[in-house]
Amino acid sequence: MDASTADHPILHLQGIRKTFGSKVAIDSIDLAVAAGEVHAICGENGAGKSTLMNILAGIHQPDAGTISLRGRPVGIAGPAEAARLGIGMVHQHFTLVPSMSVAENIFLGRQPRRWGGLVVDRAAMRHAAADLISRYGFELRPDQRVRELTVGQRQRVEIIKALAFDAEILILDEPTAVLTPAEVDDLMKVIDVLRDRGRTVLFITHKLREVKAVADRVSVIRHGRSVGTRDNAGLSESEIADLMVGRAVFLAERKQVPPRTERGDDHLEVAGLTSVDATGRAVLEDVTFGIRPGEVLGIAGVEGNGQTELAEALTGLRPVISGRVTLDGTDITGWSAGRRRGAGVAFIPEDRLDRGLSPTMSVAENLAASNYGRAGLVRRRLISQAALRRFAAEQIRRYDIRGAAPETPVGTLSGGNMQKVVLARELAREPRVLVVSQPTRGVDIGASEFVHRQILAAAAQGCAVLLISSELSEVLALSDRIGVMLRGRIVDVLDAADATETRLGLLMSGGRAEVEA
Ligand SMILES: Nc1ncnc2c1ncn2[C@@H]1O[C@H](COP(=O)(O)OP(=O)(O)OP(=O)(O)O)[C@@H](O)[C@H]1O
Ligand SMILES: [Mg+2]
Repeated sequence: MDASTADHPILHLQGIRKTFGSKVAIDSIDLAVAAGEVHAICGENGAGKSTLMNILAGIHQPDAGTISLRGRPVGIAGPAEAARLGIGMVHQHFTLVPSMSVAENIFLGRQPRRWGGLVVDRAAMRHAAADLISRYGFELRPDQRVRELTVGQRQRVEIIKALAFDAEILILDEPTAVLTPAEVDDLMKVIDVLRDRGRTVLFITHKLREVKAVADRVSVIRHGRSVGTRDNAGLSESEIADLMVGRAVFLAERKQVPPRTERGDDHLEVAGLTSVDATGRAVLEDVTFGIRPGEVLGIAGVEGNGQTELAEALTGLRPVISGRVTLDGTDITGWSAGRRRGAGVAFIPEDRLDRGLSPTMSVAENLAASNYGRAGLVRRRLISQAALRRFAAEQIRRYDIRGAAPETPVGTLSGGNMQKVVLARELAREPRVLVVSQPTRGVDIGASEFVHRQILAAAAQGCAVLLISSELSEVLALSDRIGVMLRGRIVDVLDAADATETRLGLLMSGGRAEVEA
């Protein structure tokens, strides 16, 4: 990046401010983005990153400040206007229509038409979609219904949809949160290709190694204000973290909490669990394991190998065709999700908006949803509003849920802070079994540390934890044993002490652990 391009930015924001009612989401942001650069935007959960990007995508209007594009002041009245100005965005939460196909979603609202625009040219659309998919090396079929796709596949559709506009400026809001490590590498290559083609990319991520890998420059925002822009070259991960938090952060190698005492036999026993999808294909096959009180069983695997289905089967959200789930010796295989919850099975799902939360309800109501049994919340069958408020305020403080009061609608929180609400709610129940999927997805570095400590603390209290994560470092740091899932089966279970990233990676891809050992 030479100084002259940075002096004539393609995009220049000055004094941008955005409030929602009395809440200041963005206080004052200045940002200069040079043409053809990959510009990372970093900041803690709730710092204002998505809000700022939504302003550029025409979704929100700023209360103050100016936006200059190619040297001229512009107003971005709506998403269509943003597209006309050459700005495309991949959102942090999905915007796809589940009942439509991949191709239909990619071209939603701008399908190729025939007969003077009266008929959508489906063949042309499929063709164009297939072309884009192969150009970026994604594994997707244009005819697949989005509802049948995994979270990672949906993310890829979102990316292609944004790229299909041929946007000159592409905004990616945490695009890697739901991708597997291999897919992240692929996306990094796609970003490099875009840069080679002269595109400008604004890239949001909480993973500092991704910033280091792909960005030319890095801008940090903190509490809705710009902290500064630095060249990536020569900047260390811990320097970025310090800028984000505003003080020195210690990026510690994760250490186990004191050893847990394992009490008694398996809390949770799973034997021969088998489940099929709508087409009759096995998505879980003969899955067998046990988790003792106080133990963390990690599940490693490339996403889409049955992890989601396993979590659903254990929490009563998916029927099984054979096998058994026992909790402290009681067969709970036929129990509903509600009954399992009542018996102390907690669930932190990967898709927090779909399954985890009611966006229009308040933080307090969402936190209370699983905790009505809690002492003091219900009195003579009525919820004590004062007690609920106190309980919510306590969780907000403990989990550092930024920008939230007990009465704030959950849907207005930032992505990472919504995740903290789900964690707080499930862990407050002091569960006997915790099924947790991708716990730190979208959560900033500081909060990730905290989340890890909470999971280990639950185990220390005697909870049996099943931890599903596509982050091998996370699985390795927290688990006592690690099972590897491949095509619906658990292909091996290793003691954490014997597990390494290489060994797990090999098993995940169908190789045998002995090759390396
Ligand atoms: N529609 C809205 N109504 C009210 N407050 C909002 C709304 N959208 C965002 N906010 C608030 O603005 C602040 C910034 O949120 P934003 O989503 O921009 O954070 P972020 O930096 O993207 O965080 P994360 O890393 O968690 O995604 C938060 O306090 C959030 O609660
Ligand atoms: Mg965000």
